[in-house]
Amino acid sequence: MRMFDIIRKKRDGEELTTEEINFFIERYVKGEIPDYQASALLMAIFFKGMTERETADLTFAVRDSGARLDFSEIHGVRVDKHSTGGVGDKTSLVVAPIVATLGAKVAKMSGRGLGHTGGTIDKLESIPGFKTSLETSEFIKNVNEVGVCIVGQSQELAPADKKLYALRDVTATVDSLPLVVSSIMGKKLAADDDCIVLDVKTGSGAFAKTLEDSRALARAMVDIGKRAGKKMLALITDMDRPLGSAIGNSLEVIEAIDTLNGKGPADFTEICLILASNMLSLAGKGSVDECRKACEKAIADGTALETFAKMVRAQGGDDGVIYDTSGFAKAKYSCDVTCEESGYISHVDTEGYGVASLLLGAGRNTMDDVIDFSAGIILHKKTGDKVEAGDVIATLYTSDESRLEQAKMELLKSTKIDDKKPIERPLVLDTII
Ligand code: URA
Repeated sequence: MRMFDIIRKKRDGEELTTEEINFFIERYVKGEIPDYQASALLMAIFFKGMTERETADLTFAVRDSGARLDFSEIHGVRVDKHSTGGVGDKTSLVVAPIVATLGAKVAKMSGRGLGHTGGTIDKLESIPGFKTSLETSEFIKNVNEVGVCIVGQSQELAPADKKLYALRDVTATVDSLPLVVSSIMGKKLAADDDCIVLDVKTGSGAFAKTLEDSRALARAMVDIGKRAGKKMLALITDMDRPLGSAIGNSLEVIEAIDTLNGKGPADFTEICLILASNMLSLAGKGSVDECRKACEKAIADGTALETFAKMVRAQGGDDGVIYDTSGFAKAKYSCDVTCEESGYISHVDTEGYGVASLLLGAGRNTMDDVIDFSAGIILHKKTGDKVEAGDVIATLYTSDESRLEQAKMELLKSTKIDDKKPIERPLVLDTII
C-alpha cells in the first residue's frame, strides 16, 4: 500500500477502504507519513468528502490510535457534554458542576482555544493555581469524591487527532464534516462515558455555519456514538451571536460564577439549564422537565456553586476567587467601543467577535503563544438591542495597549446596525437523537 495511491484515490472522489484509512492513521502517528502527504489527503477529503462508512472508519482509527481510558472505578453513571466550539461558550463551567451536584459523574477532558473559538482548559487555567493535568488515579479519585473533574486531554489519548488537528489548523481544513466528526468522536470514544450530549453550534460563530450542515454533523456524530454503544443526544444551538456577555478567559469564568450564583445573562443561563437537564435525563435521572427543576434548585440553593468551588479546590485552585471574583487578574488597559449609527443591532459576525478577542490576547495565533487571561470583551449590547449613535456597545480589555485599535475595528466591522429589529433566533434549533 502506498500513501500516494490513497491520496490519488480520494482526489478522484473514490471511496477509501478500511485498510487504507487504518494504514494512513497508523503510519501518520508513527511519523512514517510526512505532513505534506497528510495535508494533501486532508485537502482531498475536504473537497470530496467521505461516505458514512469511511467517516466511521476514520473515527474508530483515531480512537484506536492511542490508549483507551478505563473509568470502571468511577461509581455511578458517567455523562459528558461536548461542544463543537463557539464564542463566549463557557457552558461546561456551569453545566458540569450542576450535573455532578445532582448525582451523575462528569469525568471531563476538554480542549484549548481553537482558531476564533475559546477552550475550557484555557478558561480554567485563569483560576490561580488550577491544575488541568492530573495523574489518572487522582482524576478518578476527584470524580468519585467531588462528582466532577475537568482536565486537558492526556498525551496518550487519540494522538492521531492531536497531530491531525494541528495540521488542519494551518492547512485550512478544519471545517470539513468527516474531519470534525472523527476528531470529536475519536476523542470522546477513547474516553469511557456512558452518555454523551453533543452541543452542535450553528451560525456565524460556529465551524458549521448553516443549519443544514449542523444537522448533518450532529446526525453523523450521534450515529457513530450509538454504534459504539453510547447513549447519545445532540442539541443544535445558536452560535449566530456570542453566548452571554463575556468573551475571554477570566471574564468568562467570572460570568460562569455569576450564573452559578443565579445572576447570569438570560440566554447563557437558559442554554446551561437545557444542556444540564438533557445530560441528567440521558443519564436516567428523570424526565427532562424533572431534571430542569432540579437544576434550577441546585443554582438557587447554592449547591452547584459549592460543587464548582470543591472542584477548584481539589484541582489545586484558589477557591477564594469563586466567592470574591476581584481575585482574578485584571487587565491593565480597557477601552469602550461606541456605535456610530442609531437603530437595532441586526446581526453580528460572531466569528469576528471571536477574532477581536483573539487580537486582544485571549487566544493563540500560534501554538506557542502565551495567553493573556485577563484579555477579552464585555458586550453591553447584543443582537436585537436598540442603540443610539454614541452608545457603548462593548468594553475591550487587554494587557497590551497596542492591541486595542485593531480589535475595536474588528468588532465594529462585525456589528451590523439596521432600522428594523431582527427576528429572534431560538437558542435551540433542533434535537437529534
Ligand atoms: N473540536 C474538535 O475537537 N475537533 C474539531 O474538529 C472541531 C471542534
